[in-house]
Formats: sequence, C-alpha cells, structure tokens
Amino acid sequence: MDEVLVPGLPPVIAIDGPSASGKGTVAARVAAELGFQYLDSGALYRAAAVASLQRGIAPDDEPALVELVSGLALRFEGERIFMNGIDVSDAIRTEEAGVRSSQVASVPGVRAALLALQRSLRIAPGLVADGRDMGTVVFPDALFKVFLTASAAVRAARRHKQLIEKGLSANLEGLLRDLEARDERDRTRAVAPLAAAPGAQVIDSDHLGVAEVVDQVLEGYRHAV
Ligand code: CDP
Repeated sequence: MDEVLVPGLPPVIAIDGPSASGKGTVAARVAAELGFQYLDSGALYRAAAVASLQRGIAPDDEPALVELVSGLALRFEGERIFMNGIDVSDAIRTEEAGVRSSQVASVPGVRAALLALQRSLRIAPGLVADGRDMGTVVFPDALFKVFLTASAAVRAARRHKQLIEKGLSANLEGLLRDLEARDERDRTRAVAPLAAAPGAQVIDSDHLGVAEVVDQVLEGYRHAV
C-alpha cells in the first residue's frame, strides 16, 4: 500500500461502495473484530434527509439544507443514531429516506457541514468508516481502503431481504429501479462522486458471503499495517 499512516492519528479502514453492497454489515463486523470505532456515514445523510422531509425543505434548497444540517445534533451510540436527542435509527431506514438522502448528499454545502463530525470519530485505537467517499474525501490518508461492490440485481435482492426482515414493505422491481437511479446519481454528481479511491482493494461480493468479505478486509488490513 502506498498510503502513509499519519503519526498521531489513529488508523482508518475506509470501506466505500454503492448502495446495498453490504458495506454496513461488513464494516460493523470488521470494527467489532478489531475493537475499532464504526462510522456509518450514510446514516448521517439519511438523518439529514429525514429532517428535511419533516420540515418540508426541498432537496435542492441548498441554503435551507445547510442551515438545517448545521443545526442538527447528530450522535452515534454504538450502531444507533440520535438526532436532536431522538433515536432515529429505524426512521432513517425507509426507502423514502434512502432516495431523499442520495438527493441531499449531492448538495455540496450538506457534505461540507457533515465533514467535521465524521472526522471527529477518528479515535484510538482506530476507525472503520463506510460510505461513498471515505477513502477519497473524508479520510484520504486511510491506512487501508476497500471498494466493495456487487451487481445491481444481487444488491436489490439483498436489500429486499433486509427490508422484509425488518417488517417493512418492499417490492423487488421498484428496489432495483431505485438502486440504479441512486447509483447513477452517486456516480455522476459533481461533488464526491462514488468511485474507488486510488489504491483501494476492489472486492466484488456477488459470490461472496459476509464472513468471506470480512476475512478479506481483515487480511488486507493486516498486510497494510
Ligand atoms: O444503505 P445504502 O447504501 O443504500 O445507503 P447509505 O449508505 O445509508 O447512504 C444513503 C445515501 O447517502 C447514499 O445513497 C448516498 O447518496 C449518500 N452517501 C454519500 O453520499 N456519502 C457517504 N459517505 C455515505 C452516503
């Protein structure tokens, strides 16, 4: 790896990839294995989305969104996320929040407003961060970078199963359409587009289970240290 560990800063493992590629599950398990802090950056954009829906703010109204996001008290407690003191962990998981989050995430001011909070979670002994721009923008000096992907059909099927298990309603065809639209928006947006970071290890999980992906990440990280 050509990334350099900045002296004094705890190591970061950055796991980026498209929607429903399994980043969250993998990142949380890798963090638990290593005893590291875990950052689900998508949860922040989802919380911003829920807040914007609650206040009736349009997804392209940058000044109003920036004011809203700057005033939100967002806090993680383990894998739960609190917004202004309220546990919104379940409320942010609907597809409506997912679609809106991808829209607000393409607003530059929103991304800037969430940067300091994300970086503040880099604490000893280390951080596993999952998202779209962990290795490219938020932690470009991450010790180990992964780009986790899978075909749209496999990702739609996984998301479908996840929603059904949570007791939420889900339609496979609709999910596939939403995923493809979200991929397109994430990839083509002007600010922090979804892309593998230079030097990232690309893992295609179409034929891999969670445990196998976790093993590959842990092995890659141990090589990089
Ligand atoms: O679970 P899923 O992969 O669908 O999405 P997520 O990780 O919860 O993130 C929700 C949305 O936030 C994504 O569709 C992205 O548009 C956006 N996002 C982003 O732009 N940058 C990040 N670091 C994380 C999420």
